[in-house]
Amino acid sequence: MNRLQICAALLLLAACAGAKQIMTDIEALASAPTRCTYEYAYDMYGAHCAGLRLSNIPSLRGGIEILDFSDNKLQEIHSDTLSSYSSIKFLYLSENQIYSIEEDAFSYLTNLQTLDLSKNVILALSESIFHLPSLRKLYLNGNPLLHLHLSSLQLTKPIRAPLELLDLSECKIKELPYWGLLPQLILYNISHNPLKSIDAQHFSAMCKLSKVDITKSIDNLKLCDLRITISWFQEKKIYFELDDYTKLNSREFESCPKREIPENLNFTYHECRTLFTQVQSTKTSRRTWLTIGGGLAGFLVGFVLLLYVMHRHNVAQTKRALKETKKVPVGADQQSSTVLLDDVA
Ligand SMILES: *[C@@H]1O[C@H](CO)[C@@H](O)[C@H](O)[C@H]1NC(C)=O
Ligand SMILES: *[C@@H]1O[C@H](CO)[C@@H](O)[C@H](O)[C@H]1NC(C)=O
Repeated sequence: MNRLQICAALLLLAACAGAKQIMTDIEALASAPTRCTYEYAYDMYGAHCAGLRLSNIPSLRGGIEILDFSDNKLQEIHSDTLSSYSSIKFLYLSENQIYSIEEDAFSYLTNLQTLDLSKNVILALSESIFHLPSLRKLYLNGNPLLHLHLSSLQLTKPIRAPLELLDLSECKIKELPYWGLLPQLILYNISHNPLKSIDAQHFSAMCKLSKVDITKSIDNLKLCDLRITISWFQEKKIYFELDDYTKLNSREFESCPKREIPENLNFTYHECRTLFTQVQSTKTSRRTWLTIGGGLAGFLVGFVLLLYVMHRHNVAQTKRALKETKKVPVGADQQSSTVLLDDVA
């Protein structure tokens, strides 16, 4: 073999390897699922349909508790799109092209705990979302058209959903909507919005808030207009996330006119606390009643069982007693039954 031949052989080898690589890529693509797959995750039954380029939710198996339909091409959610899946607890619809949501599109999902509608082009929200009885986490981030609707959103307050997390980051919001009392809210993400104002009143209605993300959202605001809100965060020990805290340590901020926290903030805050206590106590009393009910039911079942066992025991004993005392010949019994049969005939 001369050197040229060796070179050619090597090149061929390399080419083959390359082709093989391409082949495996194609194979991988071809073998990628084109239908939803089902699996158990965290002890729950879920349908996994992410990244399938679907423009409709196909007919799914009943009883699913998780539906991952992110990264698809869904555009509209009608009232019957999800109505047969009331068992869903976790619904992921991020990275679709959703712009339209019918008013009662989610209202059947009474078990829904997490709703992810992030990275869509939602034009208007349906009010029913805010009254879902189990909804704790709502992701609306990355909806660049949502701000057009939020200012005119009319909600019945207080909203019924026990929201603990609300993500409104990257929604081009200038004026934050007033949600009314949100007594369970813990995390509020309003980062990456060109806010024109930030009113402390807004946060006084969130009496369990522990973290608010305002990264890249207060750049357009005058420092002194932040004063009361920042004082409120500090007083209520709400951790606020910012990209740059140095502004708040500046002399300009220090020299802003000091102002008392207005009384109406305290008022709203206490209203929120009252509502929180009410919600907690209904929860506790419901739990207590469930426990009592459960205990009572258990006791009754046990009692009935006991009676049954005693009954069986008695019957057995009577039978045994009868057998032992009588020791009657079998014939007598047969006679009587023949008599009976005669009667019937
Ligand atoms: C808030 O949202 C932004 C952008 O969506 C994200 O990067 C950030 O991690 C979120 N903050 C929190 C505290 O979750
Ligand atoms: C509001 O409450 C804080 C402490 O909870 C108190 O220091 C402040 O004086 C109150 N403000 C008004 C106007 O009542």
